[in-house]
Amino acid sequence: MTNEPTPTVYLRTPLGCIHHADSLDVMKETGKESVDLIVTSPPFALTRKKDYGNEQEDAYLEWFADFAQQFHRILKEDGSLVIDLGGAWRPGLPVRSLYHFKLLILLCEKYGFHLAQEFYWWNPSKLPSPAEWVNIRRIRVKDAVNTIWWLSRTPWPRASNRRVLQPYSDSMKTLLANGYKAKLRPSGHDISEKFAIDNGASIPPNLIAIPNTESNSSYMRYCKENGLTAHPARFPAALPEYFIRMLTDPGDMVFDPFGGSCVTGEVAERLDRKWVCAELIESYLQGAKGRFETAAEPSNPRASKKDDDGYYRIAHPSLLWNGGDERDSAPLPKDGGRHRPEHLRGEKDEMKREDGDGDRQAPGPATRVAMSI
Ligand SMILES: C[S@@+](CC[C@H](N)C(=O)[O-])C[C@H]1O[C@@H](n2cnc3c(N)ncnc32)[C@H](O)[C@@H]1O
Repeated sequence: MTNEPTPTVYLRTPLGCIHHADSLDVMKETGKESVDLIVTSPPFALTRKKDYGNEQEDAYLEWFADFAQQFHRILKEDGSLVIDLGGAWRPGLPVRSLYHFKLLILLCEKYGFHLAQEFYWWNPSKLPSPAEWVNIRRIRVKDAVNTIWWLSRTPWPRASNRRVLQPYSDSMKTLLANGYKAKLRPSGHDISEKFAIDNGASIPPNLIAIPNTESNSSYMRYCKENGLTAHPARFPAALPEYFIRMLTDPGDMVFDPFGGSCVTGEVAERLDRKWVCAELIESYLQGAKGRFETAAEPSNPRASKKDDDGYYRIAHPSLLWNGGDERDSAPLPKDGGRHRPEHLRGEKDEMKREDGDGDRQAPGPATRVAMSI
């Protein structure tokens, strides 16, 4: 891949360029095996026109086929493809679309990718949605993770977890301070003395916690000052950054075919990687420009906010369980929540106005319900 100017180049920076174009066209002009990492968040909007799921899923997979072929062609043999996909509810029903799982299977079984590892991005600030199932009928829980498929052309993509280490937890620090006795765990896991060696940091799990709450970034300020609407479905910079650090070296080529506001380009530029983004809609690129007009912002939350220690807590699932008091043991709704509870009948049905991916919608009445309980 080259970031040389073509008629579709919208913006050029020292290390990269944004194409205002269909990324399929950009990829057709791109050399075979020229990209080290494709990291992206493709669009997925469940339309409200149809009230059945499979056809939409099939249409999505069909739409994705050309991209899959091009991704495989332009990726270097030791490169990686990282796809962030939010889940979706099937319209009008408290059941989930399978599209992201189907896409994963298609990419592996039809297009020859390997699943290097699946990741889950937990957004601790995610609001409960859809309100009708979660807040009103209380038959589902909050959907707060996106799947991230890390795929590769061979089972051996270049990678190092040393680039994404985390600080030791307090319990690990205590263990290191007090020493650890090697023993066989009840699971049969043989924990050797090596676990007591202080390596300075710990290897992270495949669960990544990042709140998607950007409100005062230089990008947001640039959009506001220039009367531009911010892209409605951005991922946080820390997300592409994690994979760019782990899967590429400085000077490598990073490509985002669904560039949006070009978060990927901003991060790649800051990390000294070459990059290319493509985006169809020009108004998103007007805001993206702002990312390259101001100094890069720190990606470490502790560097930007003094009161942020970078940790997000999640409760043990039994913390409020009292073993069968009145609240715990109220009988389950016999109809599985098909009908609203008696005292809520007659109120506006939230499913008539919301379905699909709650994360990509502006807060509305559903959000207010969510916040009021
Ligand atoms: C989920 S958004 C990506 C947002 C981006 N990660 C960010 O943080 O700003 C998906 C984007 O893909 C763009 N898109 C859809 N099809 C495209 C195509 N064929 N070529 C280029 N961009 C496309 C959409 O316009 C949308 O802005």
